[in-house]
Amino acid sequence: MSAQSGRLWETGAALDELVHRFTVGDDPTWDGHLVHWDCLGSAAHARTLARAELLSQAELDALLAGLADIDRRARAGDFAIPEALEDCHTAIEAALTKRCGQAGAKIHAGRSRNDQVATAMRLFMRHHALRWLDLLDAFVAAVTGRIRCDGHIAMPGYTHLRPAMPSRVGQWLHAIAEAGLEQMRAACDLLERLDACPLGTGAGFGVPLPLDRAHSAELLGFSRVQRSALDVQNSRGRLEKYFVRAAVDVAAVLEKMSCDLILFTAAEFGFFGLPEAMTTGSSIMPQKKNPDVLELLRGRSARLRARLFELEWVTGKLPSSYHRDLQLTKEPTIRIALELPELLEVATRVAAGFTINAERLAAAMGPELYATHAALELVQRGVPFREAYRRVAEEIKAGRFDDGAAERWRRSTERFDPAILAALEDERAAWRRETKRYRVRTAAAEAELLPGNH
Ligand code: ARG
Repeated sequence: MSAQSGRLWETGAALDELVHRFTVGDDPTWDGHLVHWDCLGSAAHARTLARAELLSQAELDALLAGLADIDRRARAGDFAIPEALEDCHTAIEAALTKRCGQAGAKIHAGRSRNDQVATAMRLFMRHHALRWLDLLDAFVAAVTGRIRCDGHIAMPGYTHLRPAMPSRVGQWLHAIAEAGLEQMRAACDLLERLDACPLGTGAGFGVPLPLDRAHSAELLGFSRVQRSALDVQNSRGRLEKYFVRAAVDVAAVLEKMSCDLILFTAAEFGFFGLPEAMTTGSSIMPQKKNPDVLELLRGRSARLRARLFELEWVTGKLPSSYHRDLQLTKEPTIRIALELPELLEVATRVAAGFTINAERLAAAMGPELYATHAALELVQRGVPFREAYRRVAEEIKAGRFDDGAAERWRRSTERFDPAILAALEDERAAWRRETKRYRVRTAAAEAELLPGNH
């Protein structure tokens, strides 16, 4: 390949085409998702270069206009990353140089693709973590809404998938809402971990130029700089794992809900149903209404878990610093970012839309469910628990267990505790508030660095 290939590290020596294609791999595809974030990072870097008087105001203006233009073109699907140029960083620099000449040739001073890609990924992950939070918020709101409407309906509680104790639809849903809130908390924690700016650390050993890293961090809406240049490289993969793990944990909540619904919508249970619009038919069996949506929520959640393993393996056992292996952390991370929103949206639709068959639920409230309650009623009358347990067990065995406890249970807990509903709403609002500062800073960075583009 000629010296005019456009690669940033061009030596003039011929390159083995097969090896070149192999090292580039899918980067043009995955980096397509990073163009916007690299434009943002590049704009901050240019501003910091100008602050250090390494760019004139005119050069800076030209670069910022060029970056905004590239960003606009990328959004319109009109910015290609040619294989010869390897990645988005090279393609962007090449486009800038074509447009701005000398100024474009100056922008890479004091940076490396290593801190560039770390910055782009950090911004990408922050953006998506905020989006997950919105969607989680909507999911928890849908579940909470169902508790408010249907929470009082009695439902058997199962352990080992065998009837255990009386419960309510609201108690089943409450567990899902709490797990969703826990994932909102985890996403906030993720945002906090992502809140350190890698820019200005170069290849991993700092940059011998007077670059004001705090300025870059502030422009990009980070609350701090990532102090160790080497840790910027070491954290590549580490932070992606937090990100992916957070998504996997969210998906696990949706997966459990789906597994329950698959079971409880089966004819043999018949507690719940899916609206016809959410079921699929069979090509051969005319009577079928299948819960494919739930099965794919389960299956795709499992696949997200597999992507976490991919990341674990790619990043495990690497020595410190940059290694090209790290390029492979982008695919699972970007895939996850793109996939989770769809899962959350569908799960929210399902949570809001599944139907409840109160008659089937009532019929399933067999007397044995109240055995523990009956024993504990005896305890309240002074019988030692072990003795009460034995008495109830004997009554059940002899077929003379009186389920008076059932009637008393029904009367004692007629509605879902409104205090819990209020607590769920409060906590959801609290996590939403918690994200506010990240949203404000992110929006300010976009407006400041790529004005007119968002
Ligand atoms: N495509 C590369 C990656 O994602 C960009 C960084 C290249 N750095 C390097 N030293 N070769 O890791």
